[in-house]
Amino acid sequence: MAWQVINREIAAAPADGKPLLTEEVKAKIARFFPKYETRRAVLIPALHVVQETFGNVSYQAMKEIGEFLAVPPSEVLDTMSFYSHFWTGDRGRKVIVVCRSLSCQVMGHEALLEALRRHLAISEHETTPDGQWSLMTEECLGACEHGPCMLINERLHAKVRPDDVARILADPNCDKE
Ligand code: FES
Repeated sequence: MAWQVINREIAAAPADGKPLLTEEVKAKIARFFPKYETRRAVLIPALHVVQETFGNVSYQAMKEIGEFLAVPPSEVLDTMSFYSHFWTGDRGRKVIVVCRSLSCQVMGHEALLEALRRHLAISEHETTPDGQWSLMTEECLGACEHGPCMLINERLHAKVRPDDVARILADPNCDKE
């Protein structure tokens, strides 16, 4: 898989200059220390904690995670940018995840992705200006026989054709089971 392209225009520090990683957030990360041999090994759990807390992992957060775990910030960025799960900017209220694995690929995932890009006027790993939608791809969503598949938040949509996109996205409950 390809590394995600990072938007380097995102502000590196919070406007008020205060650290993002409060003692409470650090304590949540520190709970993983006994389970790993080194602090460095806690990097991925730390990224999860930060994203769950703030909704994304900003550059300031990456710098502070690096300081807390004694890992160079470049390594935090390297790890973080490898996983499409982590976001440097804000995610939309509804996150669309299109499967990019083989079965869905064969069944037309690229045409589906293109229809979504056109409909929302955003690219992969971007969010619409109104904060409603984000678009991303991930490996197998576990419904290979029903490709091409996509998730909208927790709801799986199977056998989605490009022509279905407008109808599905117009449904206010498209992200609910
Ligand atoms: S290959 Fe798409 S859900 Fe498994």
